[in-house]
Amino acid sequence: MPLGSLRSDLRTCVRVSQLIAYCSPNPVVANAYGGLILLILILLSGFSIVRGSIPDYWIWAYYISPFAWALRCVVINEFTSPSWNSPIPGGEGQTVGERALGTFDFFTTRDWYWAGIGYMWALTFLLIGVSAVALTYLSGEPPVARVADPKQLAKARQKAEKARQEAEAGARQAAQANVAPPQANGANTSQVHVVVDVGKLPYTPITLVFQDIRYFVPNPSKGQKTDDGNPAPDKLELLKGVTGFAVPGSMTALMGGSGAGKTTLMDVIAGRKTVGEVRGNIWVNGHPKEQGSWARSSGYVEQMDIHTPATTVLEALMFSARLRLPRETPKAAVRAYVDSVIRMVELDDVMFSLVGLSGGNSGTGLNVDARKRLTLAVELVANPSVVFMDEPTSGLDARAASIVMKAIRAVANDGRTVMVVIHQPSIEIFEAFDMLLLLQRGGRTTYFGPLGSHSKPLVDYLMGQVPGVEPLPEGYNPATWMLEVTGAAKAVRIKAVEGVDWPQVYSGSSLAASNAARAEQLIEDSRKSYPQPLVVSGKYAARAPTQFAALLFKFQMVYWRTPSYNFVRLAMTIVVALVYGSIYWNQGEMPNPASVGRVQNVMGVLYSSSSFLGMLGMGAIQPLLGFERVVFYREQAASMYSPWAYGIVLAMVEIPYLIAQVIIFVGIMYPMIHFLGTADHFFYYLLMVFETLSFYLSFGSALVYITPSQQLAQVAGAGLNFMFSLFNGFVIPFPSIPEYYKWANRGSPTTWVLYGLVADQLGGNKTPFQYPGDNTISSVAAYLRDSFGYKYGFRFWCLLIVAGYIIGLRILGILALRYVSFLRR
Ligand SMILES: Nc1ncnc2c1ncn2[C@@H]1O[C@H](COP(=O)(O)OP(=O)(O)OP(=O)(O)O)[C@@H](O)[C@H]1O
Ligand SMILES: [Mg+2]
Repeated sequence: MPLGSLRSDLRTCVRVSQLIAYCSPNPVVANAYGGLILLILILLSGFSIVRGSIPDYWIWAYYISPFAWALRCVVINEFTSPSWNSPIPGGEGQTVGERALGTFDFFTTRDWYWAGIGYMWALTFLLIGVSAVALTYLSGEPPVARVADPKQLAKARQKAEKARQEAEAGARQAAQANVAPPQANGANTSQVHVVVDVGKLPYTPITLVFQDIRYFVPNPSKGQKTDDGNPAPDKLELLKGVTGFAVPGSMTALMGGSGAGKTTLMDVIAGRKTVGEVRGNIWVNGHPKEQGSWARSSGYVEQMDIHTPATTVLEALMFSARLRLPRETPKAAVRAYVDSVIRMVELDDVMFSLVGLSGGNSGTGLNVDARKRLTLAVELVANPSVVFMDEPTSGLDARAASIVMKAIRAVANDGRTVMVVIHQPSIEIFEAFDMLLLLQRGGRTTYFGPLGSHSKPLVDYLMGQVPGVEPLPEGYNPATWMLEVTGAAKAVRIKAVEGVDWPQVYSGSSLAASNAARAEQLIEDSRKSYPQPLVVSGKYAARAPTQFAALLFKFQMVYWRTPSYNFVRLAMTIVVALVYGSIYWNQGEMPNPASVGRVQNVMGVLYSSSSFLGMLGMGAIQPLLGFERVVFYREQAASMYSPWAYGIVLAMVEIPYLIAQVIIFVGIMYPMIHFLGTADHFFYYLLMVFETLSFYLSFGSALVYITPSQQLAQVAGAGLNFMFSLFNGFVIPFPSIPEYYKWANRGSPTTWVLYGLVADQLGGNKTPFQYPGDNTISSVAAYLRDSFGYKYGFRFWCLLIVAGYIIGLRILGILALRYVSFLRR
């Protein structure tokens, strides 16, 4: 039966949470309320503070708490059973069980047991009923869009305009100061010209050639049989020998039906693949591609728009520019360049808006197409020589798509090499491209060549190779026609010619031969113009201090602008401190003689308050970090900063909030509970609570980085914390833990939190202490030493051990960021 009551205990817990969720306007609030109500009900269950010590003004909660009823049922059931029935000698008829129950202020009659079961059932029905009513009559809060105050926006714009003018003036001055005496070779003067023209930065044009690219991935259905009965191959070949090139100033369209391998090819060329094996040659200005310099001189505009919601457009761009432009670039020039990119992609109107979350009406911040232009701009501010884009116009309306295309065209006209995966383009968009690489399903080339005016070369090729191809109707979209005649798309109007293997036709064509020759020629020519391979200094464009400064600026802004994380955390701290303080009012003062119950109360509050607050912080930070991890992966692929800078900054930005939290918490609770009044104990407590909270944050973030999903990180966090609490010596004191589990106690980080806090507050306490049912008198300190193994002198070691855990977990998190990627592409 005790098991049954435990089960209904859990059930009630779920029901209470459900009810809270139904009554709350949003999940953050539900979590906060829910945590608080559960905290009160659990705290007042009669375990961490015994019934007799609960102040009168809280005793009502003891009588309504389902946890108190359940606990009472379990202990009464146990201690009134026959094995505890022997009378105590000289105990006036009291049994051993009754004495044990009395020590912890439990009732001793079995009536309470049956009452408990009745109460749990009644409460369950009540909660279900109230939940139903809440679901019927209450609705969640309507989503509110975050709109910036127009006055504030105007002011910010003015300020930015002034900054821009200053930057411009500064750049001009710097340029004039740099003007060298005229020299015979023109290179120097053109260099000067580049700097004076604010908003332009020098870069090396890149000719890109790829030959016979093959790409293999492990077959997911390896070991199974295919339809024709043969065993499935170990590997899948997703690209089957693709050859092509892209020259500076040109735009190459990468097209094909769905699943043809477009994204795969672009990922392979851009070096963004994290799994699989690549064969074939990729040449950058005639030299084999070297990923370090390649990542720095190319930009990859991903299909997903991944941005930190709590930054503004300008901040996001400045961040990217500072970390990706060469370190020599003067600050003013960086700003001026960012401004020119903002104008180019027409983000001026929203440059001070928060990026916000995407997602239809419930989203806040930028709309879909501004978000896409931001994704593009974030890459452009790196001044890349080569730009890759995966479906930049998908999901945009015609106007937005044309703005994006205009920007892309401008990028190419600048002399950069541009390669774009494009899906269902309009005629205008399609014909804006110079070259087309058309892939067939299975990663084979159907066409690689110029598009020319009105796609004439493409049309001529397709019509010329195979007889019977339906001609392009007047005004029909050549992109659609091309896909339909080659059978890459389901025919709407045009029929494909039956039984033609277009890739095979291509490989035998003179076009393929001339492409291969042209590729060789380009390699040779570009190697002549650039005898040295592209080199970059260092792994990252920016120096370590710049990385730290940029990351620190970004994340302190993110923190400041995420009240759902920080404000809720601070508000909860006040409430939790008041709840603990009032429940454990004056418990810190030991009566003479001290009792087991009283020591238990103090241990309970010391440990559970700090660990509850820690768990609360951990639960709040995980979603934030989980979301940021996706951004981290993107920025890491672009070699923006080292994982160490990232990890250390994320630990640093917490500190001011933690200090505020700890001061509020300890400031309220310490005097209310009447813990030891001297400064050294106060500061010890302050420090240990600070460490406990940092421990939980480090623990939570390490879990986010070593698990593939946020849900898993949360479950693992709760599970591990449960194990920590089970073994930390509160439920079972260290000397009573079985030999073969002692390591679990020593290894649990919260062992040292509990040890330190209890040893500091009580470990030196000489108050006489009376063992229950025993006349021997010793001291509280001796009781702790004998029953728990706590030595007063060890308390500072506890601080060090917890600090060791914090540092270890932070390092673990950073190593996971560095070496473990859950991004599979
Ligand atoms: N790691 C992988 N393991 C197994 N198959 C893969 C893997 N990556 C891609 N594929 C398969 O390879 C093919 C090409 O994928 P890819 O994403 O490049 O297509 P795509 O041309 O970009 O298509 P879409 O138009 O859908 O974006 C698809 O059939 C895909 O299922
Ligand atoms: Mg794709």
